[in-house]
Amino acid sequence: MTPLFIIMLGAPGAGKGTQARLLSETLGLPQISSGDIFRENLKNQTPLGLLAKTYMDSGALVPDDVTINMVMDRLSRPDCANGAILDGFPRTLAQADALDKALATVGAQVSKVPLLEVSDEAVINRLAGRRVCRNCQAMYQLEFNPPQVAGKCDKCGGELYRRADDESDTVRNRLFVYYKQTAPLVGYYFAHGVLLSLNGARAIEAVQADLLAALKAA
Ligand code: AP5
Repeated sequence: MTPLFIIMLGAPGAGKGTQARLLSETLGLPQISSGDIFRENLKNQTPLGLLAKTYMDSGALVPDDVTINMVMDRLSRPDCANGAILDGFPRTLAQADALDKALATVGAQVSKVPLLEVSDEAVINRLAGRRVCRNCQAMYQLEFNPPQVAGKCDKCGGELYRRADDESDTVRNRLFVYYKQTAPLVGYYFAHGVLLSLNGARAIEAVQADLLAALKAA
């Protein structure tokens, strides 16, 4: 079976994590979120987590060498043998190039790159109301996808928190960084014939249905 490596692309708050998690359940492939790995390291106060924090707090990208090593290590684990859904990586042309080279060594390649298109205003609004479960990382949005009991996760009862980098000035800087360093990947993957542009401004379930249909048709 050809391994399936899918990269979720889009601005901060476009819904990459939300869609990757659903797709991971449907396809039975691991979801690999570079942001979640950094946050897990920070929770455990590892040197990697403490280093990443100095960049994440301002919305800047963690340096390529650190990020590439971390994600390659994760991709080398046995659960990625049939592929993976990458969420938040790659985010620079150097990271995309490193990924292509690493996959080529095992006879694999990037399969498809869904791009979630959402306006800047919509992502700013979404991130202002995002809440995440401290325990299971389930995601909520106070307006569009609120928890049943305020401050508590529907799935595990864990405490919901607001990410430090969802503060509005940091969100604006994350958007700036996205346009400067990550948006060039749209052209890169278009040129490779693997880009799938999707309207990410619809309801979560509608975007997921569009995503599955686009992957099937491709
Ligand atoms: P990371 O955690 O990857 O953050 P991000 O890319 O900014 O993406 P987000 O998690 O904010 O948004 P998302 O697109 O996943 O949307 P979500 O599904 O959560 O990275 C954080 C930091 O880590 C970076 O700033 C950087 O410092 C560092 N980092 C990570 N990867 C790196 C890399 N490769 N290189 C260097 N540094 C790296 O949804 C957002 C909200 O909207 C949620 O509340 C959700 O419930 C809601 N929502 C989702 N879909 C919809 C919808 N259709 N309608 C309404 N609401 C929706």
